[in-house]
Parts: sequence; C-alpha cells; structure tokens
Amino acid sequence: MTPPIDFTGRRALVTGGASGIGEITAKLLVDLGAKVVLADLNADALPGACKRTGANAFTVGDVAVEDAAERIVADAATAIGGIDLVFNSAGIGDDLVPLHEQSIERWRRVFDVSLLGTLLISRAAGKLMIEQGRGAIVNVSSIVGLDAFPGRSAYGVAKAGIAHLTKTLACEWGEHGIRVNAIAPAYTKTPMVKDLVDRKVFDPTLIERRTPLGRMAETEEMARAAAFLLSDWASYITGVVLPVDGGWSSYGAAGDVAKIRHK
Ligand SMILES: NC(=O)c1ccc[n+]([C@@H]2O[C@H](COP(=O)([O-])OP(=O)(O)OC[C@H]3O[C@@H](n4cnc5c(N)ncnc54)[C@H](O)[C@@H]3O)[C@@H](O)[C@H]2O)c1
Repeated sequence: MTPPIDFTGRRALVTGGASGIGEITAKLLVDLGAKVVLADLNADALPGACKRTGANAFTVGDVAVEDAAERIVADAATAIGGIDLVFNSAGIGDDLVPLHEQSIERWRRVFDVSLLGTLLISRAAGKLMIEQGRGAIVNVSSIVGLDAFPGRSAYGVAKAGIAHLTKTLACEWGEHGIRVNAIAPAYTKTPMVKDLVDRKVFDPTLIERRTPLGRMAETEEMARAAAFLLSDWASYITGVVLPVDGGWSSYGAAGDVAKIRHK
C-alpha cells in the first residue's frame, strides 16, 4: 500500500507564493512536510504569506527577468539546501480587450510573466534537478490556454504556451528523473478573480451556469491537484496538463448546463 502523500525531506520553491493559488499550495506543501520558499514580486505581501503558510523563507523578484529568476532559484536553494519541487504560480491577468484595442506593451508583460517566467524558473531549477537526478515541476496553465476566450489573447497564448512547454520539458528531462506537469484551473476564488467579480468584469452566475459542477473552484482544490502531481503518487505521470475545472472543458453543448439541469 502506498503511504499518504508525505513531502518530508523535500525542498520546494513556489512562485507567486504571496497570494492565491501559490500561497495555498505552499501551505499544503508545508502541512505535508516540505521545506518551502516563497518567491513573489510583491515584497509587501511576502512576510505575511510566509507567516500564514509556515514557509521557511521568502525571496523577492520578478520571474520574467532572467537574472532575477536565476537569483530566485539560487536564493531558494541556499535557504533550504536545494530544490526538489517547483510550483510555478506567478501570473497576472490581462486587459480583457480585443487585440485591436490591446496595448502591445501590456500584452508582452502578461505573456512574459506567465510564459517566460515559468520557462526561466523551470530552466534554472531544472539545472539543479538534473545534477541531483530527480525533481518535479508543476506549472499553471488555465482553461483559457485550452480554448479561446475573446479578449484574452495575451493570457490565452501564454497559458497555451505553458501547456506546450510542460510537455516539451517532460520529454527533455524524463531521462533525468524529472517530471513536469501542469494544472489548468478554471475560475478559482482567489484575490485575482474576486477583484474581477467585484469590478463586474466576471459574472459569477454565468460562470456557475456554464460549469457542470455548478460552482467556482476553491483555491484548496487547485492546491490538492498540484500537490498530487508534485508527489510520488504521480510517479509515472509526466507531460500532463490536468484540467481542474469542474467539467468546464468537457462541456461543448449550446446553451448552458444549468438550463439542462433545471429544464
Ligand atoms: N484564479 C483563477 O481563476 C485562475 C484560473 C486559471 C489560472 N490561474 C493562474 O493561477 C496562477 C495564480 O493566480 P491567482 O489567481 O492565485 O492570482 P494572485 O494574483 O492571487 O497570485 C499571483 C501572484 O503572482 C505574483 N506575481 C505577479 N507577477 C509576478 C512576477 N513577475 N514575478 C513574481 N511574482 C509575480 C503576484 O504578486 C501574486 O502574489 C496564475 O498563473 C494565474 O494565471 C488562476
């Protein structure tokens, strides 16, 4: 019988760890025995998140800048003696405008934080993992990276890129004992989404009607999927982009699920 998930002795770096999915996943990894370093661009939020999660340390930096990403990985490895696990959660939302109204500067920033940031952190950590002959990385794609959402070209292209990068790295690094997977969340009740709901950019009623499970996701539901993929329970799983979406990406009919449910 396989014992319950236990990260005792494992050393984890969580980017975007000062908020939302990153923070809650970091807390779960700590609860399951891992040593954890949080990395984030938001220097003000990091000390509080470190306290709430029980992480061992934090480091401030921009994952989208090559030198900073290399330094984040080096800081984390120094703080906890190496890196076995990476959860790449740093990301920003986009402008929700069609491409002809989109600022290219902003497009590039959304793309860089998500895709280039994931690539740079994975590259730096991957070098350490190759030396030690083992490791696991979980990236964060999105339902917006699996299908097209109007007004979300920067975010969607970046998240589709993350899905593809995940598969590519899984194929490149499998021989080194490194697994690379991704989760593809649907709408999750994090500060990023709550802000969009408050500003009436997202309508939670419409989202719930379109979702077979009839609700938005709790942040813990993303953390549990990420922890599973990082753990030895997923020892033969690599190159997978796992929708954690209440059935969103399976639903293809006209209309919405709620109408069928309550006809
Ligand atoms: N919340 C959702 O519904 C949802 C759905 C699908 C995918 N995602 C993805 O999940 C991840 C986490 O999102 P969240 O909802 O928890 O958002 P969040 O805003 O709560 O957390 C994101 C964190 O990333 C940090 N960050 C932003 N830019 C950074 C940079 N350049 N370098 C380092 N850190 C940076 C922020 O400071 C923040 O602490 C993101 O990649 C997001 O795209 C979220």
